[in-house]
Amino acid sequence: MQKRITIAIDGHSSCGKSTLAKSLAKKINYIFIDSGAMYRGVTLFCMRNQLIENGTPLTVEVLKHLSEINLSFRYNPKTDKADLFLNDENVEELIRLPDVAANVSKIATIKEVRQKLVDEQQKMGVKGGIIMDGRDIGSVVFPSAELKLFVTASNEIRAQRRFDELVSKGIQTTFQEVYDNLVQRDELDSNRTESPLIQTSDAVVIDTTLLTREEQLDLAYQLYQKTIA
Ligand code: DC
Repeated sequence: MQKRITIAIDGHSSCGKSTLAKSLAKKINYIFIDSGAMYRGVTLFCMRNQLIENGTPLTVEVLKHLSEINLSFRYNPKTDKADLFLNDENVEELIRLPDVAANVSKIATIKEVRQKLVDEQQKMGVKGGIIMDGRDIGSVVFPSAELKLFVTASNEIRAQRRFDELVSKGIQTTFQEVYDNLVQRDELDSNRTESPLIQTSDAVVIDTTLLTREEQLDLAYQLYQKTIA
């Protein structure tokens, strides 16, 4: 039987990580976990419980409520992907809304939130055969992952892709709003004290600016084959 490895995919917001991770997971029959969805789920909980004031998390309050947050992924046959559940409620669509995007990077700076989610993510990966995407997957969650990819793309192309995605879902926003949120999140994600987004020295860089989805998948698949060979 073929060895089932761990694949870590990190990179900036909206560079196509999740799309690539999802299609590679489907092709090689691996589990795909979108770790950003988990940070978004915690953020939605905090927003609903007034644990964020004027864009700033009330950290002490957030910590008091952490044990009430139960996150899980459940397969949705209609979309052929896993949806995020927050305390048994399907929140997959809600966590993608711009107001959650506007708050999530601040929630992701809280050490105890990260510890809780990293712990859950590591448990999901104990058996291998998993592709996880995020910001700290190759550096913190799975530092021994056999294959690490660092995905990137220009700011303009990333903002355009995210804008098109939101518009196609009927969500009201502007290109500038999406662009500004993306730059602000990159800044926070890369400069926070707790597990900032970094490109580890053993990661292979994939710049998706000029690549089609098929070309990205081909490249990642070749790297996977080389790794298991
Ligand atoms: O991948 P995404 O845009 O859905 O991630 C949402 C936010 O969560 C992002 O701004 C940074 C944070 N995040 C993180 O800090 N660590 C991860 N492993 C995944 C996401």
